[in-house]
Amino acid sequence: MEIKVTLAQTNRTLPQDSALGFGNVFTDHMFVMDYSKDNGWHDARIEPYADFSVPPSAMVFHYGQAIFEGLKAYKTPDKKICLFRAKDNFERMNRSAKGLCIPQIDVDFVMDAMKKLIKLEEKWIPETLGTSLYIRPTIIATDPFLGVRASYTYKFFIILSSVGAYYADGLNPVKIWVEKEHVRAIRGGMGEFKTAANYAASLFASEEAKKNGYDQVLWLDGIERKYIEEVGAMNIFLLIGDELVTPILNGSILPGITRYSVISLAKKWGMNISERKISVEEVFKAHEDGKLTEIFGSGTAAVISPVGEIRYGDKVISIGDGTPGETAMKFYNALTDIQYGKAEDTENWLELI
Ligand code: PLP
Ligand code: COI
Repeated sequence: MEIKVTLAQTNRTLPQDSALGFGNVFTDHMFVMDYSKDNGWHDARIEPYADFSVPPSAMVFHYGQAIFEGLKAYKTPDKKICLFRAKDNFERMNRSAKGLCIPQIDVDFVMDAMKKLIKLEEKWIPETLGTSLYIRPTIIATDPFLGVRASYTYKFFIILSSVGAYYADGLNPVKIWVEKEHVRAIRGGMGEFKTAANYAASLFASEEAKKNGYDQVLWLDGIERKYIEEVGAMNIFLLIGDELVTPILNGSILPGITRYSVISLAKKWGMNISERKISVEEVFKAHEDGKLTEIFGSGTAAVISPVGEIRYGDKVISIGDGTPGETAMKFYNALTDIQYGKAEDTENWLELI
């Protein structure tokens, strides 16, 4: 399919790297294509970033049939642009699509379209460590219809955002609230898909956590409410003695690409890494026994984020001394060195564009 390009007439510029937050600076262009039962995915185009026209009856507004991805493009010191495990994101998008009865996308085609868009928007890629171009592919259901069924028409789009750190405090350890009352997802539901609904389900508890001074929620399994699963925007790792533990994927956890990368590096470095069930009780006991030395989150937006405090009901524990832990920093440095093209890409995770 050919991609039609319409250029924007604008002279907007990238803000200073130090002024970048997360997700509020958008670039000049976007990629869009539409789907209908008769024509499949069609009308692929790169056009000026602008409002869409979608009817108020569009099914996405009523029944939430929407999926998205999050990945990043980085600038290397010699000004090359690289992508980190990008194909994995579109493969995950197709798994989410299947789960929500959305038609599959052609991974090679959307990879090419995304690269074309990024090249056009090269000036929006910031260059300092910790900044990048965040890429947000999304699919929404567009049928103007109020009956409950899967839509027959869809819109796929990719927007780009120049970003800095996800957490305002950068690499400073974050505070996590273990949620006792509400659940985000259950096995057999949609937890392992990257769908808008999972984030809607997380809002009430996240707002409560924020009111209490916590950055994000750590979700427990939705059935026994006993085992830790993941944080609002990242997967979680705990260092207990010499064992690095992350919750095993069980259908209600997002299979993070950064999570897979941390596991691969840990195996390569000969660490004792386990993917297993871990109860909140075990976490507090390990702390009591002096064995819990680090907790950190992993994600595209969050990169590696050390956790400095967790609260579960009345119980509060501090982990570390208020600075990022050694293991978290080792993973942060190894991953970002690869992502920014500063270290050899021994795992074959990078793609230059
Ligand atoms: N879990 C949730 C709920 C997320 O939103 C994210 C972010 O994408 C992650 C985990 C980490 O996934 P990834 O490493 O693929 O970005
Ligand atoms: C990402 O890390 O890409 C995410 O999607 C997290 C997010 C909801 C900001």
